[in-house]
Amino acid sequence: MLIKRVKTCFIRTFLSMLSILQSQQSHRVVIFLAIFILMTILILYTSNNVSEEVYTPFHVATMKINKTTDLKRWSRKDGFVPISGNKSLALHCGNCALVTSSSHVLSSQAGEEIDRTECVIRMNDAPTLGYESDIGHRTTLRVVAHTSVFRVVRQPNEYLRQTDGNFTIVYWGPPNKIEKNAKGTLYRLIQRVSTTYSNVSFFTISPNRMRKFDNLFHSETGRDRQKSHSWLSTGWFTMVIAIEICDNIKVYGMVPPSYCGVLFSRKKPASKKMPYHYYKPRGSDECLMYIQNESSRRGSHHRFITEKHVFARWAKLYNITFSHPTW
Ligand SMILES: *[C@@H]1O[C@H](CO)[C@@H](O)[C@H](O)[C@H]1NC(C)=O
Ligand SMILES: *[C@@H]1O[C@H](CO)[C@@H](O)[C@H](O)[C@H]1NC(C)=O
Ligand SMILES: *[C@@H]1O[C@H](CO)[C@@H](O)[C@H](O)[C@H]1NC(C)=O
Ligand SMILES: *[C@@H]1O[C@H](CO)[C@@H](O)[C@H](O)[C@H]1NC(C)=O
Ligand SMILES: *[C@@H]1O[C@H](CO)[C@@H](O)[C@H](O)[C@H]1NC(C)=O
Ligand SMILES: *[C@@H]1O[C@H](CO)[C@@H](O)[C@H](O)[C@H]1NC(C)=O
Repeated sequence: MLIKRVKTCFIRTFLSMLSILQSQQSHRVVIFLAIFILMTILILYTSNNVSEEVYTPFHVATMKINKTTDLKRWSRKDGFVPISGNKSLALHCGNCALVTSSSHVLSSQAGEEIDRTECVIRMNDAPTLGYESDIGHRTTLRVVAHTSVFRVVRQPNEYLRQTDGNFTIVYWGPPNKIEKNAKGTLYRLIQRVSTTYSNVSFFTISPNRMRKFDNLFHSETGRDRQKSHSWLSTGWFTMVIAIEICDNIKVYGMVPPSYCGVLFSRKKPASKKMPYHYYKPRGSDECLMYIQNESSRRGSHHRFITEKHVFARWAKLYNITFSHPTW
């Protein structure tokens, strides 16, 4: 951002210098030359100071764990903001099925078992229509990224129709996109939809809680999310929220952290190709997506594999089990 601005400024100065040179006002030339030199110095200065913290290969052994946060003790009150009214997210479940969007859920025939679970949690715009035998049809909670909001509201019959006594949608996103006072149209869109679907409880994650999610990633991995050019995944938000509301969690379709092979060994994963999303059979391969994201240095990527290392640790603390594959 800054560099871009400085560069624009640089070019403008250069152009005005040229135009002044043409008009032969030499005292001004001196002033603009001075500015030009200053700009050059500034550019060199900023490009040397931009933090280029590289996301080095992640090893569990070197993972700097500060102190494991007790997620069960996070206060629900300041975390979730209702889109309308002033109710709070009061959902509590003994048993939860967390259904991932991975193609590992296909042919699991786990649909009945999932539907029998007290609470069923899904993510983004993962559909149930047509996949009921593997993933069931009930939804108690759907965690949706700001980038998936449009896809969710565009198909209300698939995503907003009442399938459960209580149905809750939690949106997450950067506060400047998802907050009440945010400029864009996203919040107003959700607000409009929430008045139409009055049976669905809509919440956004508060800016305060978004920061808490970042701090959690930092304390659990020793990495600064922003400095290491990462975004937390919807999976990360969903897992933490599930731990908050569920006594027991069974996760469907999540692979263990080492599933895609040892990272950065430049060896192709031995596992066979599995689509990243069960509803996009021609989409990218999951392991390829994970490895590319994990090793990506710039451009804000998800750290799917790092996140799974953390999930593996949480599994021991919070009654989490994994199915399809089992681990
Ligand atoms: C908010 O909740 C309180 C009690 O919990 C109630 O008295 C008040 O009317 C509510 N306000 C709105 C706008 O719903
Ligand atoms: C829905 O939520 C309300 C309040 O949270 C609760 O009293 C009610 O039992 C719930 N209904 C179902 C079907 O879970
Ligand atoms: C809301 O729930 C009630 C009772 O469960 C149902 O009759 C009604 O059709 C639902 N409305 C919508 C808009 O889903
Ligand atoms: C670890 O904890 C200390 C004290 O609570 C804190 O000052 C420090 O920032 C933490 N480090 C990380 C990486 O979270
Ligand atoms: C794990 O599950 C058991 C049985 O449902 C429950 O009593 C216990 O509180 C749970 N532990 C945690 C950390 O949620
Ligand atoms: C990282 O994952 C996202 C999906 O969440 C995908 O859209 C993106 O292309 C991936 N990036 C790389 C470098 O693979």
